[in-house]
Amino acid sequence: MAEILAAGEAMERALALLEGGDVVAIPTETVYGLAADATNGVGVARIFEAKGRPRFNPLIAHVADLAMAERIALFDPLSKRLSQTFWPGPLTLVLPQRPGNGIHPLVTAGLDTIALRVPKGFGGELIARLGRPLAAPSANSSGKISATTAEAVAADLGAKIKLVVDGGATSVGLESTIVKIEGGKLRLLRPGGIAAEEIEAAAGMTLLRGAAGIEAPGMLASHYAPGAAVRVNAAKVARGEALLAFGPRRAEGWQGAAALRNLSATGDLREAATNLFAHMQDLDRSGAKTIAVEPIPFDGLGEAINDRLSRAAAPRDKID
Ligand code: TXA
Ligand code: MG
Repeated sequence: MAEILAAGEAMERALALLEGGDVVAIPTETVYGLAADATNGVGVARIFEAKGRPRFNPLIAHVADLAMAERIALFDPLSKRLSQTFWPGPLTLVLPQRPGNGIHPLVTAGLDTIALRVPKGFGGELIARLGRPLAAPSANSSGKISATTAEAVAADLGAKIKLVVDGGATSVGLESTIVKIEGGKLRLLRPGGIAAEEIEAAAGMTLLRGAAGIEAPGMLASHYAPGAAVRVNAAKVARGEALLAFGPRRAEGWQGAAALRNLSATGDLREAATNLFAHMQDLDRSGAKTIAVEPIPFDGLGEAINDRLSRAAAPRDKID
């Protein structure tokens, strides 16, 4: 079973594992990541093995700062401005790779672009100490809900990895927002922890929506799936369903719910994002066959929350 070490005590052990081509689960501000040295093919392969993830999914390379990012990718003025505004933080930029950057091709699934971000906290310090980027998808088995606590990581992947670094519950609770620069325009590949409106304000332009093809497989329909079926936009709750609530007013029939969690009693979307995955896991554990979800507004972080919920509700034949 994986050892769980507090972030304040885990640095040397994490470095030793990464230097040896092994994986380590680390906290970031968004969700926990399953990290390996992005220049080490064996380490990166272990990520896919532990997650049971198909190899065609490219991973995000996490860097310590803009200087490290510029050694890996080619920045235009707009992407530089966005990185200066939002890094460290939950923004991932997809950029052309700099030839000879040393990134193992398994990280990018052979694409000539690479997804980059600078995480806050322990992850950022770890990368600076290692001196090399870390490839890190969310630390969960493929198709499952992302983990926002060290305990959730250990429960899911503990038998397959050696170390989980415990940084407490993540502050954002949702994966990063992914944008791609396309000929001076910006495309939103995955809504996430920074609201699209904030990026639009910083960029001074509207984001293009809808990916060209399956570019960000975070976009595969049934991702983030709990064991129970998920029913979104529920105006009524059937007896025995679990209820994922939002805001001060309850859906009709809520008294008959088998279990209830409220994403935010005050209707605060940021608080709701932080609670999303942990509450889904709690309701899943209640044993109810269906989780009914009250309507959640689409503004701000609501876009990303609704995106994750609609994937959780999608038919399960498409799990990646
Ligand atoms: O918050 C996050 O982003 C977390 C933490 C650990 O940093 N990481 C995360 O990674 O969510 P992952 O691997 O679960 O999701 C990465 C997404 C995938 O949907 C992948 O397809 C997309 O990024 N992606 C990676 N490289 C890409 C590329 N070159 N072009 C387009 N999409 C890419
Ligand atoms: Mg994921």
